Amino acid sequence: MKATWILGDGKTITADVREGQNLMEAAVANNVPRVIGECGGSLSCATCHVYVAPDWAAKTGIAGEFEDAMLDVAEAERQGTSRLSCQIVMSADLDGITLIVPQ
Ligand code: FES
Repeated sequence: MKATWILGDGKTITADVREGQNLMEAAVANNVPRVIGECGGSLSCATCHVYVAPDWAAKTGIAGEFEDAMLDVAEAERQGTSRLSCQIVMSADLDGITLIVPQ
């Protein structure tokens, strides 16, 4: 399965992501700039913040309660499709997903 990150300069990184892997881990493994994952995916850092491309937002669903609270303290501005990428787990439904990396 594949995921694509769009960077601030318009460049993109597309990588293979295995089913069950979260998209923070996948970003870190593929050296996507500005997706840090400082807390290792335990919902306590918000350094994995991304904007889900609008076309994909329905499939990723909405943030849970703790994620929602963390998004309020993320460094980059929160937008309508903001998610913490450690909480998005790759599945067949998300194959081809596009994420925009906040600058
Ligand atoms: S990696 Fe820390 S909240 Fe996602």
